[in-house]
Amino acid sequence: MTSESYDFVVVSNRLPVDYEPDASGGAAWKPSPGGLVTALQPVMRAADGVWIGWAGKAGLDLEPLVADGMHLVPVPLSADEVELYYEGFSNDTLWPLYHDVIAQPRYHRVWWDSYVQVNRRFADAAAAAAAPDATVWVQDYQLQLVPGMLRERRPDLTIGFFNHIPFPPYGIYSQLPWRTQIVEGLLGADVIGFQRTADAGNFQRAVRRLLGYQTRQTEIHVPGDPPRTVIAKAYPISIDSASYEELARRDDIQARAREIRADLGNPKTIMLGVDRLDYTKGIGHRLKAFGELLEEGRVAVEDVVLVQVASPSRERVETYRQLRDEIELTVGRINGDHSTIGHQAINYLHHGYPRDEMVALYLAADVMLVTALRDGMNLVAKEYVASRHDDDGVLVLSEFAGAADELRNALLINPHDIDGLKSSIVQAVRMSTTERRRRMRALRRRVLERDVALWSSTFLGELEASRRR
Ligand code: F6P
Repeated sequence: MTSESYDFVVVSNRLPVDYEPDASGGAAWKPSPGGLVTALQPVMRAADGVWIGWAGKAGLDLEPLVADGMHLVPVPLSADEVELYYEGFSNDTLWPLYHDVIAQPRYHRVWWDSYVQVNRRFADAAAAAAAPDATVWVQDYQLQLVPGMLRERRPDLTIGFFNHIPFPPYGIYSQLPWRTQIVEGLLGADVIGFQRTADAGNFQRAVRRLLGYQTRQTEIHVPGDPPRTVIAKAYPISIDSASYEELARRDDIQARAREIRADLGNPKTIMLGVDRLDYTKGIGHRLKAFGELLEEGRVAVEDVVLVQVASPSRERVETYRQLRDEIELTVGRINGDHSTIGHQAINYLHHGYPRDEMVALYLAADVMLVTALRDGMNLVAKEYVASRHDDDGVLVLSEFAGAADELRNALLINPHDIDGLKSSIVQAVRMSTTERRRRMRALRRRVLERDVALWSSTFLGELEASRRR
């Protein structure tokens, strides 16, 4: 554990880099997956703080390190804890529960016990790294008990919490056997941030129903000695928009985009999906819609290709294994039914790619399909928009992604309505240049103005103000 102390501490389940032992017995660090890291990395690079998190492999006990200009403190997890706390309680209980029970959440007491134990370890690590009166910013659903645990140990700290995923309506949340403990854990924070106003409202309702505390607008009155006021409010997360635009303007990346188009046979329309391979992302709904459009002859395989990047995720959780089988079966069927020797209907890529390659793909894609059944924000939608400095491209966006609250000029769709989704895909493919530009310009104004720097400064500004309350 670190002996240094810092005025600013970020705590998240994962560090921004995963530890990858190489064949020669040495060590390498690889960027870790997901929107949380994408958003927080620029914030941490700009701050002289420390990031506390897991290095992505079981049984590692690593020393603090500096990587990419950031101070990192790895928190160890045993193989059992990866299974019970991470794969179990975090990703087989909370994840499906918080995403509107798209998959059935499983409730196991041993998973909960491990969640408590691991949250305590993260809280201890944060308490050890935080200087007197420091600011600690805890991230996401894996660590909801940490704010309460930290407040008990270190009442001098100012504590923020940000939930990157949705917070469900009370009718769903109330299934959780440990619903009261989680709410109490979160209320250890001074400011609790959510992606959407609806999420903050859902949380406040849970507080009223479970604890009977009074709430007024964004304030929650927590009785005690002394009583405290906790803020629960929406702070929609974003990306480092300028850096995406900068990459997209680079000659080599534009050349790579042209190369991708040529490799795909220079079709009239390239459609793109980019997701972690997760059942919340509506990949199956997207494939169904595309398959039916090909079947009905409303799009032709010679004209339209779908590139689907599905990066591997949580592969030891059974629901994710089943999803992979389902998706790959569907891709195989659609390709078998519709591809020709010269034209493949779906180009399916089960890999993660570096940011340069992603930006080239965004530039190459005429239509971006984001069809999530439920998503906290969906930063891929914002990355696509930020990359389109040419004011071209069409974003088809699920109204169930947090991003839909902001990106009103996208073609908004309900992914459960397959006919509606098909019509929107056809509309996107046929959209006039004038309309594409009008919509993309409006989207870009929003994404470039409201970037991740604004998100973090707004949240941290509110946290700072809470010191004076
Ligand atoms: O943003 C949601 C989130 O679960 C992050 O907390 C996480 O880092 C990312 O998605 C990727 O998931 P995982 O860490 O389980 O691979």
